[in-house]
Amino acid sequence: MAKSRCCCSLILSLILLASPWTLASDTYQAPKPILVRVIKDASTSLYTMSVKTGSRLVLDLGGPLLWSTCLAAHATVPCRSDVCTAAVQENRWNCTAGGGGGGLCACSAYPYNPISGQCARGDVTTTPMLANATDGVNPLYPVAFPVHAACAPDSLLGSLPPGAVGVAGLSDGPLSLPSQVAASLKVERKFALCLPGGGIGAAIFGGGPFHLLSVPDFGMLTDRLGYFNITKNPKNGRLYLDAVGIAVNRRGADVPPDSLALDASTGRGGVMLSTVAPYTALRPDVYRALIQALDVELRLIPRMPSSWPFERCFDASALGWTRVGPPLSNVDVMLRDGSNFTLLGANTMVQVDEETLCFAFVEMGPTPAMDESPAVIIGGFQLQDNLLVFDLEKGTMGSTGLLYWMRTTCSNFNFAWGTP
Ligand SMILES: *[C@@H]1O[C@H](CO)[C@@H](O)[C@H](O)[C@H]1NC(C)=O
Ligand SMILES: *[C@@H]1O[C@H](CO)[C@@H](O)[C@H](O)[C@H]1NC(C)=O
Ligand SMILES: *[C@@H]1O[C@H](CO)[C@@H](O)[C@H](O)[C@H]1NC(C)=O
Ligand SMILES: *[C@@H]1O[C@H](CO)[C@@H](O)[C@H](O)[C@H]1NC(C)=O
Repeated sequence: MAKSRCCCSLILSLILLASPWTLASDTYQAPKPILVRVIKDASTSLYTMSVKTGSRLVLDLGGPLLWSTCLAAHATVPCRSDVCTAAVQENRWNCTAGGGGGGLCACSAYPYNPISGQCARGDVTTTPMLANATDGVNPLYPVAFPVHAACAPDSLLGSLPPGAVGVAGLSDGPLSLPSQVAASLKVERKFALCLPGGGIGAAIFGGGPFHLLSVPDFGMLTDRLGYFNITKNPKNGRLYLDAVGIAVNRRGADVPPDSLALDASTGRGGVMLSTVAPYTALRPDVYRALIQALDVELRLIPRMPSSWPFERCFDASALGWTRVGPPLSNVDVMLRDGSNFTLLGANTMVQVDEETLCFAFVEMGPTPAMDESPAVIIGGFQLQDNLLVFDLEKGTMGSTGLLYWMRTTCSNFNFAWGTP
């Protein structure tokens, strides 16, 4: 008797958690976006978020699916369902990983590890996700809701940070995390990502404002966004900027404008945004041209020995440091519409030891991990401490630029409970 009451109240409270009615006020509340904590793993430079107590997923900006290891006994999804149709279409890497489905028609998907390049086949399941509702300033109350995820074998976790049980894809596909949050909680198909350099960063799924503690208080950072068009590569579903050039300290690198363009028919080229590349990687011809421009601009700064994976390193005391990082080292990614996605010194130079600052850009290897090799992959170090807002409906990315200007960083979200 006591036991069944316990279960009923558990189910009831789960229903209440997922509904927009709160017990406290007993009044209707508009659906609220959800907040998750984001941390950077020091050993892999990958960003993870928590989805349930103790489980972390690696954030993959252009990834199509949520996937994780599953219990042996897990719910399955029928083959003949919309979810299954969508899941099968996300097999963009022509994954042919084995593992017969048997005669039972349980839907399979093809989870892909964007770091190791491996893929596998696993059941599509339904799993609960836990997060907090937010007003953009504080967490307000817990929310639980189900999401569809693909199960993956333990072997697919290779190259992920310790403790990570899978990957959360943030693409605009129907089974990505932002799309599923939008469908489940009836919020906008939009998310804000503030990747931390250290400490605890934040992501908000579902739209709304975003606030960070700062001195002086700059208010809602979402009022301070510059917007860029983003395009989707039809071949791999990933997000690209339409760039025509790249410059260091306003000196253009000698690259023909068309050499940065995305070829939509083959999926090659283009300037891709990635949260799984630790540093921006450039195709050798683009990399060489950028280094040449850097060498001219920093010709008066004494060099230091290379520090793998970085080729160009400088004497830190000679270069100096301003409020937004080392001077003379801003990088403009010049876009077709005449605007620039500008990276300031703190996003372009990495301190490798007390005396040494290195240009945080690397040359792509001769055999890139991806079939549709981009001309440039803008990586996590270049995106961190910058509030980015992806509107998957409109195909735009908002950016505040480096937050140091506003005397704050991505690790300044106020995680103390607010009042709903
Ligand atoms: C996948 O295979 C199909 C048919 O063999 C081919 O047309 C398509 O280009 C392949 N896609 C990728 C991303 O390799
Ligand atoms: C919700 O926020 C509270 C307060 O910061 C925190 O203790 C809790 O872990 C959060 N829950 C989730 C699921 O993130
Ligand atoms: C995005 O592209 C559209 C049409 O291609 C253009 O009208 C608009 O001005 C662009 N927006 C930005 C922010 O560049
Ligand atoms: C964009 O960057 C280039 C290269 O640094 C510069 O020449 C140009 O003036 C910038 N444009 C804007 C609108 O800031």
